[in-house]
Amino acid sequence: MESLKVELYEEIKKYIFRYLDSEVEFILKVGNYILESGGKRLRPILVLAFAKALGKENTENLYPLAVALEYIHTASLLHDDVVDGADTRRGKASANRVFGNETVVLTGDYMYANALYLFSIYGDIDMIRNVSDTVKKMAEGQLLELKRIGDVDLSEEDYFKILMGKTAVLFGSCCYVGTAFATDKKSLRESAYNYGVKIGLAFQLIDDLLDYTADEKKLGKPTCNDLREGKITYPLLSIMNDLTNEEREFIKKVIRDLTPSKEDIEKVKLIVEEKRGTEKTLEKAKELVMEAIKELEKFPNNKYSKDLEKLAKYIVERDF
Ligand code: IPE
Ligand code: IPE
Ligand code: MG
Ligand code: MG
Ligand code: MG
Repeated sequence: MESLKVELYEEIKKYIFRYLDSEVEFILKVGNYILESGGKRLRPILVLAFAKALGKENTENLYPLAVALEYIHTASLLHDDVVDGADTRRGKASANRVFGNETVVLTGDYMYANALYLFSIYGDIDMIRNVSDTVKKMAEGQLLELKRIGDVDLSEEDYFKILMGKTAVLFGSCCYVGTAFATDKKSLRESAYNYGVKIGLAFQLIDDLLDYTADEKKLGKPTCNDLREGKITYPLLSIMNDLTNEEREFIKKVIRDLTPSKEDIEKVKLIVEEKRGTEKTLEKAKELVMEAIKELEKFPNNKYSKDLEKLAKYIVERDF
């Protein structure tokens, strides 16, 4: 994983600003601000790794597609921080706080459009279909999550529907595009997509877990935000049936409270810990990672496919 990250991260860095060409100063300002703050760049790393795992040496025309998928991710973060009213992202003040909601929303729109434009030039119709379907599903996932705020009766099915939309399908598309760049084989494209979706679900489960357990400094964004925003995520969802009536009523109150106190938040965290909600989340994520790794069986056995296996495992080991 480390070797993959170092090698491909550097390659991506060279291209990440190149395709953000706009004549409008604000777009460049906001775009550069968030892109310069880094991030893990997992999505373009996946694009390149799949093409390379299939033996594609010349990836020059793949870079614009890899960075386009990072633009889609960036756009979703810009919009997400507006929707969530976030103050911090990647250890810095979030773009909405620096430039204001209006500018950030419009820059996000530009980034989505620019990504699809890049696909029309460097990609093909099959990729465009896959990626535009993903962008649609991302909007649906975010909207579904928004509509379920404060709902203590959220079902596991709906929770996973939200994860699928807001996070997993984009990981799926990254793997799909890298594979489609290297081969026409439908079954490989599908396996790559399934691998991506599964690690994407695991990734968001861990994001939701870190919201309960992480060190804020290391995470680069505040913790316990989901609870404060009235969102039930897996650490809590997985223990909802194990609560006493009193605990359930208390959690209902905290979830519906727009400004819950620190003590209440800590109390919920304690309940989640005691009833093993954190372990259950980790177990679920690990299951998905094992399923994802199975999808790699059809791929050639080489350095890159091995790295993809390590990357899947890293998803559940990460602490930021
Ligand atoms: C954050 O994604 C949004 C989620 C899907 C949880 P990342 O954790 O990949 O964000 P960066 O790009 O590394 O900052
Ligand atoms: C991830 O959801 C949403 C996107 C994929 C944009 P969150 O709202 O949990 O993401 P963070 O925690 O703010 O990064
Ligand atoms: Mg958020
Ligand atoms: Mg959000
Ligand atoms: Mg989160």
